[in-house]
Amino acid sequence: MRTAYRKLIPPLILLAALALLWHGFPQLARSFGRTLDAGTIAGLDTGLAALAWLTAALLLIRLLDVALWQGLVVRRTGIAPPRLLTNLVDVLVWLTTMVIITSYVFNQPVTGLVTTSGVAVATVGFALKSLISDMFSGIALTLERPFNIGDWVQIADGTVGRVAGISWRATNIVLQNGVTVHIPNGRMAELILRVFNKWRDELDIELGYGMDEEQAERILLSAVSGLPDLGAHFRPDARIVAFGTNGVMWQLRYWLPDYPSRSDLRARVHHDLLRAMHVANVTTAPIQQHILFERFRPEELARHDTIAAFLRRIDLFKLLTHDECEELAAGLISRTIPAGTMVVRQGEGGESLFLIREGTLEVIVGTAGHVVAQLRPGSFFGEMSLLTGAPRSASVKTQTSSVLIEVSKERLQPIISRREMLAEELSRILAERQQATTRLTSASGAGDDRAASSRFLSGEILARVRSFFGLANAQERPRTAVSG
Ligand code: CMP
Repeated sequence: MRTAYRKLIPPLILLAALALLWHGFPQLARSFGRTLDAGTIAGLDTGLAALAWLTAALLLIRLLDVALWQGLVVRRTGIAPPRLLTNLVDVLVWLTTMVIITSYVFNQPVTGLVTTSGVAVATVGFALKSLISDMFSGIALTLERPFNIGDWVQIADGTVGRVAGISWRATNIVLQNGVTVHIPNGRMAELILRVFNKWRDELDIELGYGMDEEQAERILLSAVSGLPDLGAHFRPDARIVAFGTNGVMWQLRYWLPDYPSRSDLRARVHHDLLRAMHVANVTTAPIQQHILFERFRPEELARHDTIAAFLRRIDLFKLLTHDECEELAAGLISRTIPAGTMVVRQGEGGESLFLIREGTLEVIVGTAGHVVAQLRPGSFFGEMSLLTGAPRSASVKTQTSSVLIEVSKERLQPIISRREMLAEELSRILAERQQATTRLTSASGAGDDRAASSRFLSGEILARVRSFFGLANAQERPRTAVSG
């Protein structure tokens, strides 16, 4: 760069020499024994001034070349500016200098000259309009960098290609079939570009209503476990997007490192998904048709959904066999409770558990009415008093009209005494809820090791439950494993 500045030296020396001459010429002439008349001095003055302006213009052009074109522009964009642009600027500098010389040095009117050169510049500018627009767009694209060389972008006609380079006039994009497209920068800057750096692909699949969400998630996510790990922000996920006529529409979303790998990785995900479905013995949702006979209207069909069938569907009773669900369901009834009804009150006695078939309820603690939880269909409440004999630990109120099934201690006792894991599961949930209530209602709620203390609490509760239900303690009796 230093050597580039050397070309400024000649015009600088020339300028200095002209200044010296301008100041010292009359004395110099006198020392040679000649006196100069006023006309000669004025002529010399004018000549020297015109020469000085021309030298200054040359200096400015060289300075622009070194500092702006080769310096700033090349450094920032990495591309040498086109000759046409630099030449145009040079011409502008010369024209301006001519106008200055005509006006200030020769004291001539310049209106005509300015108009003529203005028209000339405008004509040239208009003729090169698109070229100039491309050049400026090229500068903007290189400075702003909405995409980088090597990025995959989708252009207006929908084709996708890799950016191979940006010149002053055009952006070069190599399509997937190897064809290179040159898009003028002016057009490129106007396009709505889709840049594929890391990007997400989706796979939609309809799975039967019979498959539970956890199994569906396990199967779907196992199909993307072999994809490259792109970091915490790019984890795959599986989500329900719609309920179809035949099944649940799931969407598996996973991230791809770049565009070209899309096809291979998509094929791999499909392959692995099919394999996971084979191994788990599941298929996509079969086409279903419900035929309703005249005497079975939908509400009558709904009534045929027995309480035993409902019990089998909820997580808590998954451990029970078909017959045990029938046994538990015998004599139970569903009751519809209006919104805003207090179903249990904190502090009251009670020995029954409520299963929520439909509706939403809230759990309220203390006189201040602190809402600690919201309970939804498939959940239950009242297990604390039922299992331990303690008064109700909270009030539970219906938020919406709800359908509840009440299960008494007497009805649950024979099942619990046979199915010890049911007591364990209830004790675990009870301990978790107690901890959550304490955490939400006390200021210093955060425990040191919640999981450990929850396990300890659940052990303690289980011992209380065993004695309340008259069950033998774990040490006294071998633990019965549960089988479906
Ligand atoms: P029980 O104490 O018999 O009556 C009130 C019920 O509210 C209680 O049993 C639990 O079933 C329920 N409950 C209390 N605290 C919570 C909580 N934090 N989350 C969910 N349910 C709770």
